[in-house]
Amino acid sequence: MNLTLKIWRQKGPNDKGQMVDYNVTEISEHMSFLEMMDVLNEQLINAGEEPVAFDHDCREGICGMCSMYINGEAHGPDRGVTTCQLHMRMFKDGDTITIEPFRATAFPVLKDLVVDRTSFERIQQAGGFISVNTSGNTQDGNAIPIPKQDADDAMDAATCIGCGACVATCKNSSAMLFVGAKVSQYALLPQGRVEATERVQNMVAQMDLEGFGNCTNTGACEIECPKGISLENIARMNSEFMKASLKG
Ligand code: SF4
Ligand code: FES
Repeated sequence: MNLTLKIWRQKGPNDKGQMVDYNVTEISEHMSFLEMMDVLNEQLINAGEEPVAFDHDCREGICGMCSMYINGEAHGPDRGVTTCQLHMRMFKDGDTITIEPFRATAFPVLKDLVVDRTSFERIQQAGGFISVNTSGNTQDGNAIPIPKQDADDAMDAATCIGCGACVATCKNSSAMLFVGAKVSQYALLPQGRVEATERVQNMVAQMDLEGFGNCTNTGACEIECPKGISLENIARMNSEFMKASLKG
């Protein structure tokens, strides 16, 4: 396939960016989107030009690093995949593909397609954990009976990889799908109930402090989420927050 790429280039956080056109040739339909970007970067390096900066790590849908906005969609046109899992067979010979960074006030652009998502890490640090004494007296998790549905829902919530596609997709740049998943994975399990009140209050407070917007129930986040995180997690977070407020 021969393709035209329109890519956001920005030298640094305080520089003005712009879309720049590139052509790539002989792209195999079996390549991943990131492999196609590797071909472009090899081409740029061979021509003595600056390669396009983009985030990636695992390249198998686990780490959540590969944040690209492709043809107006976070992680591109396929469903249930991250950019690294997106195949070039989703595109046609002669296509023009627009590639931008995830855009949100709380995800400032560092360079080209790389954004700073440490706001997510600060939300996690505010409460996305349980405190357990691991000195050897810890009760075996399997010895605590948990309803099957709760265990399944907690596991589903825990599959959130913190990629930020929900934020990039939301017209309000809301992080509530992400925070809802992180709150839910603990709220559903007995181990998470101990610190449930402070957890939801602290995580929501940090989310607001970072400048994420509010949820207005559009549901676009759920559609674009590569892990199929359900909107139910936002409802659960809101209910946890209400319960915590009444306690406080
Ligand atoms: S909820 Fe989905 S889209 Fe949002 S950070 Fe988690 S995995 Fe990514
Ligand atoms: S590079 Fe890890 S999820 Fe895409």
